[in-house]
Amino acid sequence: MARTILGVIGGSGIYDLPGLAGAEWRRLESPWGEPSDALRFGEIDGLPVVFLPRHGRGHRYSPSDINYRANIDVLKRAGVTDLVSVSACGSLKEELAPGTFALVNQFIDRTTARQKSFFGKGLVAHVSMANPVSPRLIDHLEAAARTEKLACRRGGTYLAMEGPQFSSLAESRLYREWGCDVIGMTNMPEAKLAREAELCYASVAMVTDYDSWHPDHGEVDIQKILKVLRDNAANAQRLLARLARDIPREHEACPIGSDTALDYAILTAPEA
Ligand code: ADE
Repeated sequence: MARTILGVIGGSGIYDLPGLAGAEWRRLESPWGEPSDALRFGEIDGLPVVFLPRHGRGHRYSPSDINYRANIDVLKRAGVTDLVSVSACGSLKEELAPGTFALVNQFIDRTTARQKSFFGKGLVAHVSMANPVSPRLIDHLEAAARTEKLACRRGGTYLAMEGPQFSSLAESRLYREWGCDVIGMTNMPEAKLAREAELCYASVAMVTDYDSWHPDHGEVDIQKILKVLRDNAANAQRLLARLARDIPREHEACPIGSDTALDYAILTAPEA
């Protein structure tokens, strides 16, 4: 078995990972174009960790402008085995109050303007997305949240919207009727591409607001989100540091086949 290399994609408000020993920024090239930024390489308790700020330092890329393929590609090239995606999200459920970390395990993809696959003309593949999140990685995240006494909910459906505008009231109500738990702009196509890259993937969706449906909370706006994000960034960093300290050093075979997602997915015949 390979050794674990933990990848972390930091969302809005998380542009670095303090506590990385021997940390250095290093730029990796990708044939898929420009990733959001250089990668931050370092170690926590001897575990190699690779961090990428999803929007770039200084928050330069909007969700629709992020080159998700290049981001996943450079993390794969860096040797990442287990990838934790951290992002801000709105809550579609009363009980998921701002400040809660939702460890989601399903997605509905309503994004429309993004490159969603490494495959296509010339090399055709269809990976399974039935179970897109690695349950082992979620186990470790849940245990880390417990140890750090952070409000966390395991499971749930993340609605990925295109943005950059927030949802209308009608959309917000519709997604609640669909049974979605949280809403955000970035976990898709990230989760799909992680699967195609045979990475174990888990998402920590940090609730910052009640979107627009909640009668007592009014409309979502970016200033409210930023305030909650500032309060939450330190919690997210504690969660990630604890995960890095406690996750097994040997990469565990993924029970949902993330490590082998391409074994039965490629249709194009190899050239004779
Ligand atoms: N990110 C944080 N809050 C959000 C919301 N309500 N909708 C979409 N993305 C978000």
